[in-house]
Formats: sequence, C-alpha cells, structure tokens
Amino acid sequence: MSEVRRILVAVLGDPAAANLPDDTPLLSGGLGLESATVVRLLAAVHAETGVDVADEDLDLDSLATIGSLDAYVAGRAVRPAGNPVPGRRVGRRMRIGFVGAGNVGGTLAGLLAAAGHDVVVSNSRGPETLAGLVRRLGPKARAATTTEAAEAGDVVVVAVPVGAYPELPAEPFAGKIVVDAGNYYPRRDGRIAELDSGRMTSAGLLADRLPAARVLKAFNTINSGRLRERCDPTAPARDRLAIPMAGDDAAAKAVLTDLIDQIGLTAVDAGSLAESWRQEPGSPVYGAEVDADQATALLAQARR
Ligand SMILES: NC(=O)c1ccc[n+]([C@@H]2O[C@H](COP(=O)([O-])OP(=O)(O)OC[C@H]3O[C@@H](n4cnc5c(N)ncnc54)[C@H](OP(=O)(O)O)[C@@H]3O)[C@@H](O)[C@H]2O)c1
Repeated sequence: MSEVRRILVAVLGDPAAANLPDDTPLLSGGLGLESATVVRLLAAVHAETGVDVADEDLDLDSLATIGSLDAYVAGRAVRPAGNPVPGRRVGRRMRIGFVGAGNVGGTLAGLLAAAGHDVVVSNSRGPETLAGLVRRLGPKARAATTTEAAEAGDVVVVAVPVGAYPELPAEPFAGKIVVDAGNYYPRRDGRIAELDSGRMTSAGLLADRLPAARVLKAFNTINSGRLRERCDPTAPARDRLAIPMAGDDAAAKAVLTDLIDQIGLTAVDAGSLAESWRQEPGSPVYGAEVDADQATALLAQARR
C-alpha cells in the first residue's frame, strides 16, 4: 500500500480506502470528503512524510485525486524529521476562527494572519467593537459573531476566560479543531468544583461543553506579550520557543503542529487531553520559556 493510501485509511478510519481507484477525487463530488477532511489528510501526509503537499507553489486542484497526490508525494524528496525549513510556510492557507479577541486571541490572530491565513475574530460584545483590531490585523482579517467565527474556522481558537465556557454555543464548533488557550483562575472565573477537585482539566471542561469538537490544549502556558516577541519563523528548531500541546486527535495535532511551526514556534506533544493538567497554571512548564527538549522534561516532572 502506498504511503498516501495508508494515511488515508488512518484518517478515514476505513480499511476500504486502501482499494479506492487512483482517479477517485479527494474533494466533494468524488470521495465526497469534506474540505476539513482533506485538510486533515494533507496535514497527516505532511506530518508523516515531511512532504509539503500544499505549498504556495502548488495548486490544490492538481492534487485532487488519490493517484495525483500519491505521485506527488512519491516524487518529492522526504525532508528529514525534526529539521524544519526555516521561514517556510508548509500548510495550505486556512481559515482560523477566534472566540475571544483580547490579549491571546488578538495576538495569535495577528501571527496567523501574517503567516498567510484568513482570520475571523469575535468577542462577547459583537463584531462592531472589533473594527480597530481588524484594521490593525489587515486585509486577511474580519470580525464576526462567535457563532460565525466558529463556523468559519477550519481551526477555532478559544481564548476567553474559563468562566465563560458555559456560554459558548456547542453546535457551530461541531467537527472543528478547537484550540483551548484558557487558564482557570478562580478569582476571575468563579469557583468551578470539577477543577478545584482536580477531577477535570479546564480543557476537559471545554470538551464537555463542545462534545463534537476536536479539542486541543495549547498556547495557555505563555504570556501573550512574550508570545508575540518570541515568534521567529526564521529561527532553527533548537532556538524556538516550545508550545505544549495536549489532545486526543492525532490528525488535529498534526494540523496545529504545522500552524505553530509556521509562526516560528515548536509544538511539543504533551499527551492526551486528560493529561493537560501537566501544562495548567502552577505546573513546571507553565510560564517557562524553554525549547522542546526542556518542555518535554518539565511536562514529565509535573505532579498533581
Ligand atoms: N493574557 C495572557 O498572557 C494569557 C496567556 C495564556 C493564556 N491566557 C488565557 O487565555 C484566556 C484569554 O485571556 P486574555 O488575556 O486574552 O483575556 P482578555 O484580553 O480579557 O480577552 C478575553 C476575550 O474573550 C472575550 N469573551 C469573554 N467572554 C466571552 C463570551 N462569552 N463569548 C465570546 N467571547 C468572550 C472577550 O470579549 P469582550 O471583550 O467583548 O468581553 C475578549 O475578547 C484566559 O482564559 C486566560 O487565562 C492568557
């Protein structure tokens, strides 16, 4: 089985995908994959083979069948793992929704817009209050309601106080990769018994609220001002700031890893969503500005 078919089987969770004809279109109308699934497939191909399957010089339509993607991947030199090409965009242009456009949401929206993605920002007071931010972010940004931002995003960053999680509407997040950047601070968020007892993580709380979303935890460990200063897409991997990333969905992690790489940071796998307490406030990695190896060591040192 070719590498692409093996990955397709894994992404679809269906062994029959191994036997689909070469000329089966990937996009809607053929295999009938939704664009979000194609994005997952391309991200997984990139993560597993190192081949940039959706670089700027490439027309996505030319990869529209299984056979053409196969041939493309087979014809490209495999980039050694752990050796990202400095300053190079590796993912296709995505739409990133932001629920919360304050310190964290506004900063990440700026970084991702600068990396070439379309960003849709929202807050609690309505899009008209975000005109200034949208102006500063430039032509790749627009403001919307929370529901619209969640619906628009291939990936949706949730950067609101944890106390606001119960107010989020579940439906528009269904099927989305959702990145939880929140931290629980009882003085701000009010007491939440499940978090105080350690029975749950704040990311778990969000996942319960958004049951059909593919929730990851990331960007919560770093101050937003430092985040902006430490992003350097031209820096080699060893000099980059590590971003711990927890979650249960490997394909979603591959997509986020790529986005983090594009803005000049390095994602570090911090385990499952249930283990995301290892990066919550008070843990060794929380607030630590460290590289990937150091972050991995600090995550392992965390105690409950
Ligand atoms: N600040 C940091 O350096 C930092 C770093 C890592 C993680 N965090 C965590 O990230 C989260 C956001 O922090 P922040 O500093 O960015 O906060 P912030 O500057 O106060 O921004 C919060 C944003 O959330 C929006 N919001 C609040 N309730 C909402 C709701 N129900 N629906 C939609 N939007 C809502 C706010 O909109 P309105 O202004 O319209 O109410 C605002 O845009 C927090 O959980 C925080 O602990 C912060």
